[in-house]
Amino acid sequence: MVMCKGFPIVLVLLSLSECRRARDPGLQYSGGETTVFVTSSLAFSSPAANLDVDKMPAFTFGNRVFNTNWVTAPSSTKNFDGLGPFFNRVSCSSCHLLDGRGQPPETPKDTMDSMLVRVSLPGESEVGGPRPHPIYGDQINDRAILGVKPEGRITVRYVEIAGNYPDGKHYDLRRPVYSFRLNYGDAPGILFSPRVAPAIHGLGLLEAIPEAAILAIARLQASSGIQGKPNYVFNALTGGKSLGRFGWKANVPTLRQQNAGAALGDIGLTSEIFPRENITAIQKDNKALASVAGLGGDSVDLKTEFLDDLTFYTQTLGVPARRNHKDPEIRKGEQIFSQIGCSGCHVPTFETGEHPAGIKEVSHQVVHPYTDLLLHDMGSDLADGRPDFQASGSEWRTPPLWGIGLVEAVNRHTTLLHDGRARNLEEAILWHGGQAARAREAFKNMSEKERTLLLRFLKSL
Ligand code: HEC
Ligand code: HEC
Repeated sequence: MVMCKGFPIVLVLLSLSECRRARDPGLQYSGGETTVFVTSSLAFSSPAANLDVDKMPAFTFGNRVFNTNWVTAPSSTKNFDGLGPFFNRVSCSSCHLLDGRGQPPETPKDTMDSMLVRVSLPGESEVGGPRPHPIYGDQINDRAILGVKPEGRITVRYVEIAGNYPDGKHYDLRRPVYSFRLNYGDAPGILFSPRVAPAIHGLGLLEAIPEAAILAIARLQASSGIQGKPNYVFNALTGGKSLGRFGWKANVPTLRQQNAGAALGDIGLTSEIFPRENITAIQKDNKALASVAGLGGDSVDLKTEFLDDLTFYTQTLGVPARRNHKDPEIRKGEQIFSQIGCSGCHVPTFETGEHPAGIKEVSHQVVHPYTDLLLHDMGSDLADGRPDFQASGSEWRTPPLWGIGLVEAVNRHTTLLHDGRARNLEEAILWHGGQAARAREAFKNMSEKERTLLLRFLKSL
């Protein structure tokens, strides 16, 4: 029980039996015993500090699959061919560079190199998700194998929006505007959702947070004006519905499904979970596509053993430790974070339960992810207008903030939010609306000194 000191009451009640097992190594240890002390460009790439040595080969091979550049079939490298015909990038790591996060193009001339655009039509698919577009499916693939035209290209330009804090200090925001050039026919009425690749450290811990703990947070929030909502989404492994945890709208329930979905949707690799090529019925009639070798073959591109290790890899990346968490100014920033209601959604502490696949390294850990894994209405400015299972067009999952201060060291940029429109932490806060408007207003109304303390705290995560 002593170990539960400092926990929100509700979590203590929920996890009385587990308190005895979990050790809280302290706030510095964002990922509990998985926490790694790395601040270099490899801050998101280290195996969990407590990873059993016997499991290193699986982690290492998973890392290799994550970094593999897939090639067109048939090739001499049988294990790593089957790219496309449509794809966005040839490897996982080209979007999740160094296991970190992507960024949007800076100008209309730049291609989307580490983000993608999901699409659909109004209505629902047969599994309750977004209704795929009859020509373009659920994602625009802006690249294709030799001899096949990509689905199209989406460019972005920015409109600057100037604003002032109540104390007179000036700020600028930029709003993205997208243009579509589609190669297989117009798509009137298409809904779209631009999304940058999130960093992938600590995800096994998020997978191990008990559903009951997440729902308890939603109940707590209901009385505070920031009603978080769980997303219940299609589970491709059970055929039923499960709590969504991954993706910007918590639109995917498990890492295995997320990874197999990425393999198919982003690289064009079939797997045991998604064995059919990513081509719509209408596209199949296209001559260039029909002649592509390897289509409709019996074997899958991403072997099941490879998907196993890839998934293990994404489940066991450690979380970088906080820096300077005892610095009095940073502690002050942390107090402000909770006083103005940021921590209502970016919940600092959870205790993981038993990981569903029994991975002991991420089980029963006291962690500090700064997320509730719930959906929140963030207002019309951030809305994409594209529903995703229970998520409306203006709802987004609270992203975890652990490691956010190291994005610059890893990815050499500081862009944030689902579409990368925020150029830094301050802009990310200023875009908060809807249920987070109160916290944003409190931020704007603080003194510049207090705002700086809050930002310093965020950089320490
Ligand atoms: C074209 C860029 C791109 C490529 C290539 C890509 N991803 Fe992603 N990844 C994304 C985006 C964008 C998201 C968020 C998806 C969403 O919100 O639906 C994401 C989400 C994820 C997540 C969940 C992260 C979270 O915090 O919820 C994991 C895990 C992941 N990808 C793994 C992979 C793996 C494994 C591969 C290779 C098989 C891969 N990705 C290839 C862009 C990419
Ligand atoms: C009502 C819930 C809620 C509150 C309150 C809230 N946030 Fe957020 N926060 C979110 C959601 C949801 C997003 C993702 C929005 C998007 O990408 O469009 C987000 C995104 C962020 C991001 C960018 C993260 C990333 O990975 O891109 C930062 C930084 C952040 N919030 C900090 C704060 C701070 C600081 C406060 C207090 C001033 C705060 N948030 C209050 C829900 C909330």
